[in-house]
Amino acid sequence: MMTLTNIEKAYGRAEERTEILKGISVTVEPGQIVSILGRSGSGKSTLLNIATGMLRPTKGEISFNGKIIKQKKEFVRLRSKEIAYVWQGQSLLHQFTVLENICLPHYIAGNKEDLTEKAQALLDELGLGHLSDYYPSQISGGEARRVSVARALLAEPSLIVADEPTSNLDADTAQTILDMFCRAKEKGIAILCSTHDMGFLSVSDRIYKMTDGTLEPYGGSAE
Ligand SMILES: Nc1ncnc2c1ncn2[C@@H]1O[C@H](COP(=O)(O)OP(=O)(O)O)[C@@H](O)[C@H]1O
Ligand SMILES: [Mg+2]
Repeated sequence: MMTLTNIEKAYGRAEERTEILKGISVTVEPGQIVSILGRSGSGKSTLLNIATGMLRPTKGEISFNGKIIKQKKEFVRLRSKEIAYVWQGQSLLHQFTVLENICLPHYIAGNKEDLTEKAQALLDELGLGHLSDYYPSQISGGEARRVSVARALLAEPSLIVADEPTSNLDADTAQTILDMFCRAKEKGIAILCSTHDMGFLSVSDRIYKMTDGTLEPYGGSAE
């Protein structure tokens, strides 16, 4: 599904140049959860931003379904349908309701369908139906995180990229989010995420650890 090959990323120029990623390769296939561990600042978000095309690598290749993705507009098209990104932390727009927050990116991406009913059904299925008319300031952090996962699921993407989706959440909310990802996995959705959550690691098909800009298989479940 998605393959990153020899990805390098450096920030800054000349003497301020810092190499964050030093040749990283990783693949995620349909129905797999691939998790990336690593201390804060090790480059996990940088890698996930590259995987979603939000950031260009300095070197390396990204392919999706066997096709090398080169242009920004190809990523824009992929993000409108195939690839959903669950950002780290709060990412809802405060002036829109929960339901609007879930639908808006899909309208912006050019979806002409009225998504209200589908979004409401998804919220109901996730036990968040009662929140549809609330504004982000009226819901808890854990609810907001679940809403952002719902937003990712609405387009029925084939890949979800999630940046520490359960960080700073209580155990119950983290478990609910993990269940949402497990159900997505069962539907054949591929998941690439950064996490330190043991629950997430226990359901991962492969785990990697990011150290000094390189990715190493981690623990027994990694290949
Ligand atoms: N736009 C940027 N410009 C310069 N340095 C950056 C930029 N974004 C991230 N960095 C640096 O790259 C390193 C890795 O960051 P990040 O990918 O966010 O790590 P992680 O997600 O693992 O905590 C950090 O040292 C961070 O300060
Ligand atoms: Mg990060």
